[in-house]
Amino acid sequence: MRRSGIRIMWGLLGLLRPLSPVMVLCILMGTAGFFCAIAITVLGVNLLLTAADLSPWAFSFSAGAAVMAVCAAARAALRYGEQICGHFIAFKLLAVLRDRLFGALRRLAPAKLEQRGRGDLISLITGDIELLEVFYAHTVAPVCIAVLVSAGMVCAIGVFHPLLGAAACVSYLIVGCVIPLVSSGLGRRQGVEVRDRLGELNSYFLESLRGIRETLQYSRDDERALEIAQRTEEINRLQGQLKKHEAAASSWSGAAVTALTLLMLGAGLLLSVPFPDLLLTTVMLSASFGPVLALAGLSATMDQTLAAGERVLTLMEEAPETEDILQGEKPDFEGAEARHLSFSYGSEEILRDLSVKFPEGKIIAVTGRSGSGKSTLLKLLMRFWKAPEGTVRISGLDVGRIQTDHLRSLESYMIQETDLFHDSIGDNIRIGKPDAAQEEVERAAEKASLHDFIMTLPQGYDTPVGELGGTLSGGERQRIGLARAFLHDAPLLLLDEPTSNLDSLNEGSVLKALSESRQGRTVILVSHRKSTLSIADSSYTIDSGRLS
Ligand SMILES: Nc1ncnc2c1ncn2[C@@H]1O[C@H](COP(=O)(O)OP(=O)(O)OP(=O)(O)O)[C@@H](O)[C@H]1O
Ligand SMILES: [Mg+2]
Repeated sequence: MRRSGIRIMWGLLGLLRPLSPVMVLCILMGTAGFFCAIAITVLGVNLLLTAADLSPWAFSFSAGAAVMAVCAAARAALRYGEQICGHFIAFKLLAVLRDRLFGALRRLAPAKLEQRGRGDLISLITGDIELLEVFYAHTVAPVCIAVLVSAGMVCAIGVFHPLLGAAACVSYLIVGCVIPLVSSGLGRRQGVEVRDRLGELNSYFLESLRGIRETLQYSRDDERALEIAQRTEEINRLQGQLKKHEAAASSWSGAAVTALTLLMLGAGLLLSVPFPDLLLTTVMLSASFGPVLALAGLSATMDQTLAAGERVLTLMEEAPETEDILQGEKPDFEGAEARHLSFSYGSEEILRDLSVKFPEGKIIAVTGRSGSGKSTLLKLLMRFWKAPEGTVRISGLDVGRIQTDHLRSLESYMIQETDLFHDSIGDNIRIGKPDAAQEEVERAAEKASLHDFIMTLPQGYDTPVGELGGTLSGGERQRIGLARAFLHDAPLLLLDEPTSNLDSLNEGSVLKALSESRQGRTVILVSHRKSTLSIADSSYTIDSGRLS
């Protein structure tokens, strides 16, 4: 459900609260700056009136000129201060937003992230946040400044004649609200569409890049390039339409300013306002459209900003599949079990009334055809997902009652695909236990049958993985994942296909290490390989959601 522009802005403003004093300063300086600018023009006209001895004010010529000079200096200083404050707020907020978004992703991971396009997320984190800079630096303050300056000017003009004040009020509303709102309403759909399309394009681009080998192999590269070109073309077309709206809005505003100033003049003549007063009020009005005109320019970018804001807020407010438990039980490990567990992804039932015990000190194998739900069972044991029916228990306690960080310390989970970080190979293993001593890392690598390979590298454990990057074989990556799990040294080891990419020599040495470390440890071993399953004390097969 799309929310209204007002609700998006309200949500975005909520993030501004800690910086409100700087924002107030920014708005005050901006408002004072505009008043100085208007004063310079009005005082200039008044100097001419003074020279002709027509000025309604009791200023001497030199006093008027001196005030003008002061206003000019103040205008420059205030403008500078306003810009500095605006950018301070924007960049501070960008940092806060990135932090909040990462926090949101952390909460949502890993369940929700399985379903979301990565390119889409990248565009959210980079593009959308950058766009919000426009909102914080160039929208919030200008809107407040426009309101304050216009209100001040309505009063100032109203002093000459109340009806002229009212006319000024209507003029500001037309230029600052009616025209931007109408043009924003016309362009909003395109704004939202441009952002959505850009997200999709990023996803597609990233996917094409990731799968470039397959693309080349099956001669699909031209097709992909064409699709990217077409999508870019479509985005360009939409952006063109947005620009047209922007140009139209800006010319309408320009025309409105001239027309409204002339109307004011006409109204003054009709009301028989004395000539010097009429001249001053007309100059006041025409010199004070600056802040409201700035709003007209905003309307085009506003559509995109709102669309970006909506995506950012939606992600921040998205409820995670499982909330972290900050205050919970911290039991010692005494075995795990699933009781009458049923689980579906949406309407697709994966596990049905599944009950199994994983006692302490045992290696339990879980097999089953591809897609039968083996990895899902491990994810439920990790509490990445919540089972709607039945329970997953550790030491007899429902996992939903165990404090999350304690649960993580009880479980070592090795996933099917090992992700590597841009760091040294030693530090990539150390993820399993950040404060591990070098000897511990090496022992874990030995268990994973990785140590000898690392020693052949020029810089050993300090070799950057980035340099090895794509050159690491599937088996080497898998053994890095295994070494991480060994290093984490938890009493419950969940291994998802730990040996699928290993040759029999490496497999043998990993299995030996596993057998040797089974003391006081439970290992759940998901595998298709008979040789791997041979070390298990017992073995189950998932079939149609049940164990056999
Ligand atoms: N996040 C998800 N959303 C929707 N469906 C999912 C999700 N993750 C897995 N599935 C589906 O659930 C089923 C079970 O997946 P799971 O990964 O548990 O299978 P598996 O037994 O581990 O298979 P494999 O041996 O190929 O690794 C599959 O049909 C898969 O497509
Ligand atoms: Mg699997």
